[in-house]
Amino acid sequence: MVSWILKKIVGSKNQRELRRLAPIVRRINEFDEQFKSLSDDALRGKTAAWKDELSKIADPEEQWNRLNEILPEAFAVVKNAARRLKERRHSFNVVEQPMTWDMVHFDVQLVGGMVLHRGRIAEMATGEGKTLVATLPLYLNALTGRGAHLVTVNDYLARRDAEWMGVLYSFLGLTVGCIQHDQEPNVRREQYACDITYGTNSEFGFDYLRDNGMATTREQQVQRGYHYAIVDEVDSILIDEARTPLIISGPATISTHQYDKWKPLIEQLVRKQTMLCNRIASEAAEKFEQGDVEMGGRLMFKVKLGQPRNKQLLRMMEDPDKRRAIDKAELSFFQDTRKEELFLLKEELFFTIDEKSNESDLSEQGRAFLNPDDPNAFVLPDLINEFTEIDLDSSLSDEEKDKRKAERQQHCDEQAERIHNISNLLRAYCVFDKDVQYVVEENKVVIVDEFTGRKMPGRRWSDGLHQAVEAKEGVQIDRETQTLATITIQNYFRLYQKLAGMTGTAETEAAEFHDIYKLDVNVIPTNRPVARKDHNDRIYKTRREKYNAVINQIREHHVNQQPVLVGTVSVEASELLSRMLKREKIPHNVLNAKFHMQEAEIVQRAGQPGTVTISTNMAGRGTDIKLGPGVADKGGLFVVGTERHEARRIDRQLRGRCARQGDPGGSRFYVSFEDDLMRNFGAADRMTKIMERFGLEEGQELEHRWLNKSVETAQKRVEQRNYLIRKRTLDFDDVMNMQREVVYTYRNEVIDSEEPRTLIYEVINEAVPAKLKEYLEVDEPNYSGLINWVNTTFPLGLTKEKAQFETRSVDENAQFLIGKITEAYERKSSHEESGAVKSLERYIILNAIDRLWQEHLYAMDALREGVYLRGYAQKDPLIEYKTEAYDMFVELMANIKNEVLHNLFRSTSNLQAFENFLASLPQFLLREDAPTAGADAIPGGGAKRPAGVRTNIPGAGTQALEPENGEYAIDPVRRSLPKVGRNEPCPCGSGKKYKNCCGRTA
Ligand SMILES: Nc1ncnc2c1ncn2[C@@H]1O[C@H](COP(=O)(O)OP(=O)(O)OP(=O)(O)O)[C@@H](O)[C@H]1O
Ligand SMILES: [Mg+2]
Repeated sequence: MVSWILKKIVGSKNQRELRRLAPIVRRINEFDEQFKSLSDDALRGKTAAWKDELSKIADPEEQWNRLNEILPEAFAVVKNAARRLKERRHSFNVVEQPMTWDMVHFDVQLVGGMVLHRGRIAEMATGEGKTLVATLPLYLNALTGRGAHLVTVNDYLARRDAEWMGVLYSFLGLTVGCIQHDQEPNVRREQYACDITYGTNSEFGFDYLRDNGMATTREQQVQRGYHYAIVDEVDSILIDEARTPLIISGPATISTHQYDKWKPLIEQLVRKQTMLCNRIASEAAEKFEQGDVEMGGRLMFKVKLGQPRNKQLLRMMEDPDKRRAIDKAELSFFQDTRKEELFLLKEELFFTIDEKSNESDLSEQGRAFLNPDDPNAFVLPDLINEFTEIDLDSSLSDEEKDKRKAERQQHCDEQAERIHNISNLLRAYCVFDKDVQYVVEENKVVIVDEFTGRKMPGRRWSDGLHQAVEAKEGVQIDRETQTLATITIQNYFRLYQKLAGMTGTAETEAAEFHDIYKLDVNVIPTNRPVARKDHNDRIYKTRREKYNAVINQIREHHVNQQPVLVGTVSVEASELLSRMLKREKIPHNVLNAKFHMQEAEIVQRAGQPGTVTISTNMAGRGTDIKLGPGVADKGGLFVVGTERHEARRIDRQLRGRCARQGDPGGSRFYVSFEDDLMRNFGAADRMTKIMERFGLEEGQELEHRWLNKSVETAQKRVEQRNYLIRKRTLDFDDVMNMQREVVYTYRNEVIDSEEPRTLIYEVINEAVPAKLKEYLEVDEPNYSGLINWVNTTFPLGLTKEKAQFETRSVDENAQFLIGKITEAYERKSSHEESGAVKSLERYIILNAIDRLWQEHLYAMDALREGVYLRGYAQKDPLIEYKTEAYDMFVELMANIKNEVLHNLFRSTSNLQAFENFLASLPQFLLREDAPTAGADAIPGGGAKRPAGVRTNIPGAGTQALEPENGEYAIDPVRRSLPKVGRNEPCPCGSGKKYKNCCGRTA
């Protein structure tokens, strides 16, 4: 009822909003009519005139208002240009294929364009021509000259759309660029400089990270701001990809995991569990045989706890009686009153695995097997109690108490780490399957996106799971990587002043778009009525029967030469179906994660007579399928779904592959009780009843629209759950995001600063007083410590007598010191080459930021894992994470400043200059008994060459000079970047060898 009312309200709100746009559509069309009489040049002239006008408006708000005013006219210009191209049958090439322009914007497309311009999501059914729709707002927003971006899901689409729509933009006098994976930085910069730029989300995101986290000069940066972006297939990008962040990684300094160590034991444990479960299952089979259904169900429930994918279990679930017995056992055990019993049941296994929540737990037996000497090795100590006990122990001094607590904390962290490692390995063995969730390639575990079936090289599961799977597969564990820079795609998109999205399927996730991204969804009606016939689902007991039925359906259409597109949820299922079709001698194409390259080409041809195409769920999203000759008369393309997906959205996408632009078409989903969705989230009980009532025989099917509903209920339940998981991931990421923004802003300030000296002085002015407070604003002021710090940081040669710190207040002392330091610094700078000083100063700050930020990222990774483990000790991980992350960040910023101070007098642009500076230092500094100022900077008082002095050679990037055999060798690797072998994969995550990627310029 509630949802019905909601729909009414939402539905009517949408209609009201669209109705309000109708008059503007009329105005656009009036302008279009007027423009028909203009010459090409006059039409084109409008672009330049608007660009000129808008470039003079500095205030973004005002500029935005002006865009709204010219919208009808501007949209009409685009539409009119499209008309001209169509009338002239303008032909051109798109991705090497000849093409003729044949489109003029429909009214609904004008509406879609307005929705996009307003920074909303336009839901337009698949095949409605969203590619063309985007041209309207892109043209309009590009007039500001600040760049408009269109984000696509893969490189092929970026190129196709840039070349295809580029015809229109060029006609109107706008430039269009396209980012491709293998482009060099200078090419990228040119693409970003265009009025409109197409590219994929990961290219945009990685460029952002490289620009803001790695580039050290303006010249090295390729992007130029984040003004307006339209995200195509926005659900796929903001929702499906929400779980894996973009990461640039490099060699790590420390590694704590012990996957290799535990692997052999876990393998044995898994084997033992399999044997145990098989034994229990046989026992259960006997009980069932003897008519003891209750006992049988109970035993099989135990198997389910220990091995959710046990073969015998799956087979028994096909039998309605047994299935009901098992479900009943499960239901009753999860009652609160039977907690104890459930616990005991679990203790009869070695471990339990929950497929739904992806969690695993060791039992007493399991623990004993892994560590027979100390079964407590896997139990987390109750820290809170222990701390209380320590606090209450009056025989301990405060110091001792702290020490003990620290020891207990350390012990607890170690235990937690161990438990975490083992839990990850168990999941890797029991829930993660090769060729389903991942593939192994070139000695690497590559994640397969469960939604698209695409491989995602460079992405990694977090929390150590990736390493666990690597250990399982025996490939090299990437222990040596650490995060150098990272951002989630969502947070990248939050950078844009205005963001819009389009997709065929957003409505089901409208609440999430609204809550998290402040993006509202408008559903745009189709241009022509949808002629697709969606048939009821067909439901079978077993997978086998289901697949047989699928093959029959395919054959039926195939003999008629009607094309069929078959969607699967995994690579494994694609291959199984392909084998079955081969046996039937039905020719077909398979496209899945493994054949990413030809994807678009194959999908394009899926509408030709007699073609059978098997595709993982949405491989080929965005590719246009045109019907071949005669196909429309045979009913158009027929889509077969071989499994309902976790999200309804994905099913709608698959259906939408057919019946585009009012074409005929049909679709049907096949479901079995063995499908993951049905097993884990199906209204299992109800289904079993239905099965019984109908007395399902082998090969028989169920079909009713009520059943579609119960499948959808299951889907909604999963969608809800996944939403919460994504939200949580984002909550964590928000913390990092704020910190990243602060650091990147500071970094850019340094890069852009014309007078970096002011930044240096800012650091001195902030860090010196803070240091003084550390030494002096305590119970017992530590004057000698302070003097020692001063003398090891700056070449001031301060003595107790000279400093007279005791005689002044802390503030006065600060002023005194700052004066001395700036004076010395000015003196040093005066010896440097004037042109080089600025880049040296920038370098000193950047270097400090980069080194410490990366260390910080490492610590944050560890913290995140750590607090997650603390979840065991009943604390809210997110709150813990936020508090500690904040403290760590404050410390980071202080450390950066201290590092800058530390390096101020240890860096030079030129060794000669440095020596001159040293020589100019007052004589007392060089006396034997004087404290050595800047200790390692001027050993022997400048007589020798200073070791470890970093220099900066302008124009050659940041490089280090180290003495080697009396010579100064140039170390070509930027210090802030990890050392990478030339043949190793590039740390930027491109997947290419270092020497062919970022290493090329090194
Ligand atoms: N105004 C138009 N007039 C004629 N044909 C059009 C028009 N707009 C779009 N088309 C055609 O419709 C087909 C589908 O276009 P497009 O691929 O842009 O759709 P889409 O909405 O992006 O679909 P998907 O959701 O699959 O990405 C293309 O063949 C395109 O040429
Ligand atoms: Mg598209």
